[in-house]
Amino acid sequence: MAANIDYGPLQALIGVWKGGRGLDVAPEPDGSEDNPYYETITFEVVGDVKNAGSQCLAVIRYHQVVQRQSNDEVFHDQMGYWIWDAATGTVMHSLMIPRAVTLLAGGKQTADGVLEVAAKAGDEDWGIVQSPFMRDNARTTEFTQKIEVSEEKLSYSQTTILDIYGKVFEHTDENELIRQ
Ligand code: HEM
Repeated sequence: MAANIDYGPLQALIGVWKGGRGLDVAPEPDGSEDNPYYETITFEVVGDVKNAGSQCLAVIRYHQVVQRQSNDEVFHDQMGYWIWDAATGTVMHSLMIPRAVTLLAGGKQTADGVLEVAAKAGDEDWGIVQSPFMRDNARTTEFTQKIEVSEEKLSYSQTTILDIYGKVFEHTDENELIRQ
């Protein structure tokens, strides 16, 4: 791995971020629940990787720990990589959640600086993989995410479309975090 790596639009993510204004809207058998939350997200450099001898990617990994405002319980844990392909201007976000669901979302940085990525079940390029149980009972069909980062502030919003309890549910999460 090279020493001087250009992380492009991912450079600003590197560091530790905390935010207390999170709002999660999650599915319940009889409707939905709103969960105010706080969280810490730690982004660290990985370095660069070369694929098939030609594609060069710059990579950052992260760990996100989310706690309920009401009782401090950790109710969401997530890990993944943000990946920058400078040659094509592509931003990729691969993530895992410990419900046996994983996905690779792809997209771009927009003209106003927002990182926008999306994945869809069955998509050949940016797909979603999940266990047979989740596929049959709590299927993730789509994921979209916007993330905006400046020197001191990181904000994101994301929508995970679920097929659960016999309905299509928009599971949403958003928060604003401050650099530590
Ligand atoms: C800040 C981020 C997130 C938070 C706080 C969160 C929180 C929750 C909560 C509270 C539930 C309801 C069930 C429970 O109480 O455990 C839930 C369900 C679920 N979430 Fe998330 N989630 C987040 C992100 C995601 C992402 C990124 C995905 C997938 C890509 C995802 C997939 C699911 C699925 C499949 C379920 C249905 C499981 C079930 O209720 O049986 N979530 N989530």
